[in-house]
Amino acid sequence: MPSDVWTAKAPANVALVKYMGKAERNVPHNISLSYTLEGLYTEVRLRLLGKSGTGSTSLGVLSDVFTSAEFSELEKKRFLKHLGYIKKILNFEGLFTITSSNSFPKAAGVASSASSFAALTLCAFQAISDLQGVSIPSKEFMSSISRVGSGSSCRSFFSPWCLWEGEKAESVDIPLLLEHQLILVDPGVKEVSSTEAHRRVQTSLLMNGRAARASSRCSDLIIALQRGHWDAAFQLCWEDFWDMHALFETSRPSFGYMLPKTLYILHKVREFWKKYGEGPIATLDAGPNVHLLWKKKGKTSNQLQIFRDFCKS
Ligand code: PMV
Repeated sequence: MPSDVWTAKAPANVALVKYMGKAERNVPHNISLSYTLEGLYTEVRLRLLGKSGTGSTSLGVLSDVFTSAEFSELEKKRFLKHLGYIKKILNFEGLFTITSSNSFPKAAGVASSASSFAALTLCAFQAISDLQGVSIPSKEFMSSISRVGSGSSCRSFFSPWCLWEGEKAESVDIPLLLEHQLILVDPGVKEVSSTEAHRRVQTSLLMNGRAARASSRCSDLIIALQRGHWDAAFQLCWEDFWDMHALFETSRPSFGYMLPKTLYILHKVREFWKKYGEGPIATLDAGPNVHLLWKKKGKTSNQLQIFRDFCKS
């Protein structure tokens, strides 16, 4: 007898070669490489309400119900639409209540759409496969379905390193674990959403050659990370987030996310590298906050605090 409650967890991820620009069904304009952030995850819970199709459930409910209060109406709609899409693929007519919670606050400046869509996709496939008595599909398949709900969520299926190109995301063998530090510059809602950014960058003249630049950076970055050439990795990631932000600034009409404090932090990152001959990889998403990735050291390492103090100096 299958249970009537299922839960699934998925991590957020941060791209070091950025995904920007997309076609139908979130097929990306260029290849990207990401690192999953295991400490930042979403947990989704699905509870079976009953069967639809006959008009209503035993509770009189006609559609799936989303119960988490902290989501906007638009976000709820997107989430329900994605669950509907998976049910259609699996030819399933039951109804669920969905609860979703993040291990990190909304104001933490980390996009939650990757982890939440990956967790919803995983949970829906687990629940429906269980109810239908079939095995859960492959990670590759679930990742490609998740992509349709939120592009970058397809990378959250492959930890810790993921390469995503076209309709396929996959693990990459890089024997290196990182420590993530977010320098929060502004937790506020962005004026231009990432969905709008994907659309608007198509007007930038710098889109010419963007896919080729990302592709060659990805190959070089994988080699640099595999061989432990950390300074080369820093340089390639630096070039790539600037490349993406240059697309924003040269779109018509132009837009941008960097704030004075963003530039201050980036300046400090470069100063840190100059002073110590090593430092963190820095990257920015479609927002003003700075993500830093450090090579993981022992438990006693206080590199994150050293950088915080360095920024105050
Ligand atoms: O998945 P979306 O549509 O939120 O795209 C996010 C894209 C960036 O975060 C800006 C870059 C990336 O590769 O994650």
